[in-house]
Amino acid sequence: MNTIFNSAQRRFLSIIYLLFLSSLLNLNSASAQDAEKTFKLYCGVCHSTGANKLVGPGLEGVSKRVPSDAWMTKWIKNSQEVIQSGDVYGKKILKENNGVGMPPFVFLKDEDIASLVTFTKTLTKKEGTASKGTDTGSKKGVNPIALLLGIIAVLIIIIGVLRGIKHSLKNIQNEKQGIPKEEAVGPWKEVKMWIGLHKRITAVLILFFIGGLLSACWYALMGIGVYTGYQPSQPLSFSHKIHAGANAINCVYCHSGAEKSKTAGLPSVSICMNCHKGISKGPITGTVEIAKIYDAAGWDPNLGAYTKPQKPVQWVKVNVLADFVFFSHQLHVVIGKQACAACHGDLKTMDAVKQVQPLTMVWCINCHRTTEVPGIKDNPYYESLHKKLAEKYKGQPITVDKIGGIECGKCHY
Ligand code: HEC
Ligand code: HEC
Ligand code: HEC
Ligand code: HEC
Ligand code: HEC
Ligand code: HEC
Repeated sequence: MNTIFNSAQRRFLSIIYLLFLSSLLNLNSASAQDAEKTFKLYCGVCHSTGANKLVGPGLEGVSKRVPSDAWMTKWIKNSQEVIQSGDVYGKKILKENNGVGMPPFVFLKDEDIASLVTFTKTLTKKEGTASKGTDTGSKKGVNPIALLLGIIAVLIIIIGVLRGIKHSLKNIQNEKQGIPKEEAVGPWKEVKMWIGLHKRITAVLILFFIGGLLSACWYALMGIGVYTGYQPSQPLSFSHKIHAGANAINCVYCHSGAEKSKTAGLPSVSICMNCHKGISKGPITGTVEIAKIYDAAGWDPNLGAYTKPQKPVQWVKVNVLADFVFFSHQLHVVIGKQACAACHGDLKTMDAVKQVQPLTMVWCINCHRTTEVPGIKDNPYYESLHKKLAEKYKGQPITVDKIGGIECGKCHY
């Protein structure tokens, strides 16, 4: 076989192989995605991937908090056993969570637990990404540069092998005809010759390469998630048009947080069941999608009774602000009197939700510069402020920026 590649060619090929392998390493994110799925499935109910507490503590930076990986493995498998063994850290967090324990996961395979442990290591504080909560992975795709590198590497390997075969075939033929062995031309030499013959194509290729590199840098720099138009597919196809439009159900019936807290929140499946115990068929999807509600609610429509425990529907988050931004629904909806549609579009006419606004800093600030503070006149909280501002900006509209709405600290912690 040695005749197929000479030593220069072998060295060249091994470099290509290394390149290819290193690009394959990037595909690791596929298994990371599996771990993320497992996490969402079994852990996301109680743990966020950020700092905020749900039932259990937020798991941001947890791998640095816990005693060791081995501890974490044992903990996930059976936390109660860890606590009963007198483990100091285990007892401490149980106490911090007012004695609410974590269920055992003995049914998980060892490799699943191992990948969960690895996954928790990725939960470091994320700055400047659009990730939040447990729905991070959904906006990421395959790294196109890695993919391209991989394809190029494979092509070069194939060409290399073909060239080698051609060369040795030719030598065999030459040997038969008594012609002396042809010296193998190294691939570098051949590339140089090719470049010499095709100067123009080479220039274009180099320009393309540099252009690609520059635009990749640009997007990496600007990539603080602008996802206008982002419309993920949901595990259950829910139509706002049917509910908020045709059946005129109030937004706040399902998003009850919008008027009283920072987050609008998503409805639990019990809210769906308020109506869907009775409505088992829809005009578009028939019984298929509503059956998923029953499945999530643990409802047996034939018996007309709950027979299984409830499990939440894993909705994919659509509108996501970076973690370092403060945004409150209550402030905008109640005090600011902004319509949901100003930021979310007219959902009464939309089946699937999509992100209609860029949710960037410029977008927030532009609205603050142009929108008057409506609640300010009749809101006792603003009475004295309003008097002062009215004096200061005689006759001018009092827009949000005039009450400090474009100060950095208002939106950034
Ligand atoms: C039913 C709720 C619940 C589920 C589901 C759950 N946990 Fe927990 N978890 C908790 C609670 C509560 C604590 C706090 C310690 C305690 O009270 O036992 C905790 C603590 C932890 C800790 C230690 C946190 C710290 O701050 O040191 C880790 C790590 C952890 N859980 C990982 C997981 C993983 C991984 C899964 C999924 C396989 C999972 N948990 C599923 C409720 C849950
Ligand atoms: C019958 C319940 C129901 C009603 C009524 C309802 N929604 Fe929703 N809404 C949902 C569910 C369920 C989801 C999650 C699934 C999805 O994104 O399609 C959702 C998602 C959303 C989202 C996207 C959340 C995200 O992940 O960013 C927005 C925004 C939203 N609703 C706004 C509204 C507005 C505005 C109205 C009133 C015009 C409204 N909703 C009425 C149930 C409802
Ligand atoms: C206030 C009552 C009410 C609530 C709450 C409600 N729905 Fe509905 N839903 C309806 C009505 C009414 C229809 C339309 C039935 C028809 O037109 O035949 C419907 C239809 C549907 C359909 C079938 C649509 C189609 O395309 O065929 C699905 C799926 C659905 N709802 C999901 C949900 C989910 C998920 C929730 C909870 C987040 C929910 N609904 C909450 C009243 C409700
Ligand atoms: C459609 C217009 C609009 C958009 C878009 C908007 N806001 Fe506002 N915002 C308002 C209004 C109106 C108020 C005044 C509420 C009040 O009376 O305090 C306000 C007030 C605020 C305040 C309180 C300011 C203060 O001085 O009390 C913060 C913080 C804030 N917005 C953050 C944001 C962030 C972050 C975004 C972008 C993600 C955003 N807003 C997008 C209209 C908007
Ligand atoms: C001034 C702009 C603005 C207005 C007005 C507004 N939202 Fe939002 N909404 C946002 C932003 C920004 C997010 C993303 C928040 C995040 O990721 O922290 C969001 C997220 C949501 C979500 C996803 C769940 C959550 O709470 O993060 C729902 C549901 C929602 N909005 C519903 C509503 C409803 C219903 C109304 C009207 C009652 C409304 N919104 C009014 C800007 C707005
Ligand atoms: C009205 C709300 C608001 C105000 C006021 C505001 N920001 Fe922001 N800022 C945001 C939002 C929203 C983002 C996230 C943008 C994104 O995710 O694309 C952001 C992002 C950023 C970023 C990350 C980089 C980027 O360009 O996205 C920096 C840095 C920043 N802001 C600094 C500041 C400074 C400094 C000030 C004061 C001059 C300020 N911000 C005032 C809402 C605000």
